[in-house]
Amino acid sequence: MKIRHLWLAPTALILATATLSAWAVPPAPQGFQLGGDATRGKAVYARSCALCHGPAGKGDGAMAAGLDPKPQDFTSRAEMGKRSDWEIYLVIRDGGKAVGRSPQMLSYKSMLADPQIRDVAAYVRSLAK
Ligand code: HEC
Repeated sequence: MKIRHLWLAPTALILATATLSAWAVPPAPQGFQLGGDATRGKAVYARSCALCHGPAGKGDGAMAAGLDPKPQDFTSRAEMGKRSDWEIYLVIRDGGKAVGRSPQMLSYKSMLADPQIRDVAAYVRSLAK
């Protein structure tokens, strides 16, 4: 390899690492418990989430038509059963992009306090039960 091509190796490594980490959901911190109160979360949901996720969580909110991919049907046990509490919590807290999903799912950590994120996650969880 000529000297002037040496920069390629570290660049490729950085790109590969960035691509991998964009898709990886980091493991839950040890002893992670979602907690949260689904009844309180329902109010947060109606205010902040229903526009895209639909009033009943079916992924059919007023803004959903313009979204690609479409939001998941939160009432589907088959789909939602594959997600851990940690994944649900994390995608709401850090946004879709942080876990390799659509960036149209925003990060709520600057808009909601942590207990509210847990409440709304608990509400989302309750929809498929
Ligand atoms: C601007 C539209 C929009 C708003 C507002 C929004 N979301 Fe999302 N959300 C999305 C989209 C689009 C996805 C799908 C991402 C994907 O599958 O790549 C998503 C994904 C999710 C997921 C992951 C679902 C799965 O498949 O595991 C959860 C959980 C979620 N949203 C919860 C919420 C909550 C809770 C709120 C309110 C605090 C909220 N979202 C607000 C658009 C939105």
